[in-house]
Amino acid sequence: MNRKQLIQNYLEFFKSQGHKIIPNESLVPKNDPTVLFTTAGMHPLVPYLLGEKHPLGKKLTSIQRCIRTQDIDEVGDTTHHTFFEMLGNWSLGDYFKEEAIEYSFKFLTEVLKIPKERLAVTVFIGDKDIPRDNESAKKWEFLGIKKPRIAFLGKENNWWGPAGKTGPCGPDTEIFYWKDNKNSAPEKFNPEDKTWVEIWNNVLMQYVQDSQGKYHESKQKNIDTGMGVERTTAVLNKLEDNYLADMWKPIIQEVEKVSKKDYLKSNESTKKSMRIIVDHIKASVFILGDKVIPSNTEQGYVLRRLIRRAIRHGKMLGIENFISNVAESVFVIYNDYEQLKQNKTKILEELRKEEEKFNETITKGIKIFEKILSEKKEIQGVDAFLLFQSYGFPLEMTFEMLNEKGVKYNESKIKKEFEKEQTVHQELSRTATEGKFKSGLADNSEKTKKFHTSTHILNEALRQILKDENVAQKGSNITEERLRFDFSFPRKLTEQEVKQVEDLVNEKIKQSLSVIKEEMPLKKAIESGAQAEFETKYPEIVSVYTIKDSSKKGWFSKEICTGPHVSNTKEIGKFKIIKEESSAAGIRRIKAVIEG
Ligand code: ALA
Repeated sequence: MNRKQLIQNYLEFFKSQGHKIIPNESLVPKNDPTVLFTTAGMHPLVPYLLGEKHPLGKKLTSIQRCIRTQDIDEVGDTTHHTFFEMLGNWSLGDYFKEEAIEYSFKFLTEVLKIPKERLAVTVFIGDKDIPRDNESAKKWEFLGIKKPRIAFLGKENNWWGPAGKTGPCGPDTEIFYWKDNKNSAPEKFNPEDKTWVEIWNNVLMQYVQDSQGKYHESKQKNIDTGMGVERTTAVLNKLEDNYLADMWKPIIQEVEKVSKKDYLKSNESTKKSMRIIVDHIKASVFILGDKVIPSNTEQGYVLRRLIRRAIRHGKMLGIENFISNVAESVFVIYNDYEQLKQNKTKILEELRKEEEKFNETITKGIKIFEKILSEKKEIQGVDAFLLFQSYGFPLEMTFEMLNEKGVKYNESKIKKEFEKEQTVHQELSRTATEGKFKSGLADNSEKTKKFHTSTHILNEALRQILKDENVAQKGSNITEERLRFDFSFPRKLTEQEVKQVEDLVNEKIKQSLSVIKEEMPLKKAIESGAQAEFETKYPEIVSVYTIKDSSKKGWFSKEICTGPHVSNTKEIGKFKIIKEESSAAGIRRIKAVIEG
C-alpha cells in the first residue's frame, strides 16, 4: 500500500462513518500564535475543540501536512522527519472513547486487514489529577485485544497536548503494530521493545491546560486522533527504513544520482547526510509552498536553517548546487498538493537563491571555524556569533560541526553569549534564537525551572549512586518537555543503577529542600565545593545555587549556574528517567521528564 492509497482508504472509511473531510491547511497556523508551525492534524481545529461550532459539523477527518522541529537533532536516523503528513479523525463533542476506539480497530483490521494479533495498545494509568482509563482498556479487550497486550502507562507516554503553550489536551490511547514479519508477536506487550511501532494515537481531549499549567475540564469531550503516514506506510510495506517508502525513495534516488553514491551501500554517516538532505529539502519545499521565504525571523529562519543544513551535508558528500534539482522530485511525489504545483517556479527560485547566497560564504566560514578551533581549542559564543553574522552559520550548525569533531562544549553557555552578542548588535529579532527553533516557546517557564533544578539533583545523585567523583557534567539541554544531561562515565548504567538514581532524585524532591542563590567570586565558589564545568570559562563573579539538606556539609548540591531555579525542591513533581544511552566515547546521556 502506498502513500496515496493509505490516505484515500482512511478518508473514505471515515467519510462512510459520517465524517466530513476538512481541508489540508497551511503549515503556518492561523489559530495558534504560540507555535511557528502546524504540528498535528488538530492544530487548525483548536477553536472548535474549545467549543466553537465547526461549519462542517461534529465529525471530521483530514490529511494534514505538519512540521515538527523539536526532534531536529534526531533527523538523520531512519524514523524521524521534519515534515510529515498526519491522518486524523475528530469528534467535536460527539462520539467519545468507545466509538473512537471502535473506528480505529475497524479501520486497522477490516480496511488495512491487519490481524489483531499484530496489535497492542497503551492506555493512561492515571495520576493525582486524572483517573485511570479503565473504560478504554475494557473496550480494547471487548474488541479482542488480549489483556497482556494492553499496557497502562503514565503521563510521559499516554498524555497528549497542548500543541502550543495552552489549549486542549488529555490522556490518550496509542496503537502499536508488531513489525517483525518472521517472528510472531509475543503474547505480552512490552512498550520498550522497538519492534512494536506506534502507528496511531487516539487522544481523549477532555481537558484544557491554562498558562499556569493547570488543567480544567473542557466544555465538551472531544476525540483527536493522529496516524503518521510515513511510518504507517513503511511498516505496512515491511520496510525497516522509512526512507525506502514511496514518499522518500525518489528523493533519495536524486541524491544518489548527484552524489554518485549508492544509499544502501553507503556507510552510516553518508546515509545520515543523505537522509538529512532529503528530509530538509522536502520540508523546505513545503514551507516555501505555504508562502514563507528564507529570512532571519520566525518561520523564515527555520526555513533558512533547514536549507543551509542540507547544503552543508551536501558539502560533506562532495556535492553543491544540488538543492533545486533534488527538490524537483518532491513535486512529483506530492502532485496532489495544489499549492506546490502553483508555486513551483517561485519555490525553486527561492531555493536556488538561498543556495547561492550560502555558497558564497560556507567554505570561508568552515575555514574560519577550523582556524578558531585550532587556535583556541574551543568555540565561544562570540565566535559562534561571528560565524552566524559574517558567514550565515545558524547556531545549531556550529554545534553540529563541534559534535562531528568530537569537541566538548557548553551549549547553554555558548547560547547565552551568542544571544548577548546578538542583542548588542541588535540586528536580528530575538525570536530567531535557538529557543524558538526548538520548541516554539520562550525558555523561562515554570517547567524549565523545575528541569534546571532537577538537573542539579541528578548530577549529584549520579556521583553518589555510581560512587565515582569523576562523574561530571558534559552538557545539558532543557526543553518544555524534557531534560537531557550528558556526563562522563565509562559504561552503560545498569537498570538497577538507573532506578537508584531516579529514586534518589525523587527522595530529594520529597524532602522539600530549599534552593538558595548566592553571588560570589569564582575562586570562592570553587573553594566552597561548587561544581563547575571543566571546559567552561566563567566570569569573575558567579552565581552559585545550593540545594540545602541536613547532611554534615549542610547541602546536597552546589553548582555554579545562571539559573533560573525553583526555590524549593518540592515544587518539582515526580522525576522520571526515560532514557540512558551513549552520547560519545566515555560520555553517557540521560533524558528525563517530570510528571505532574
Ligand atoms: N494530536 C495527536 C498527535 O499528534 C493525535 O499525536
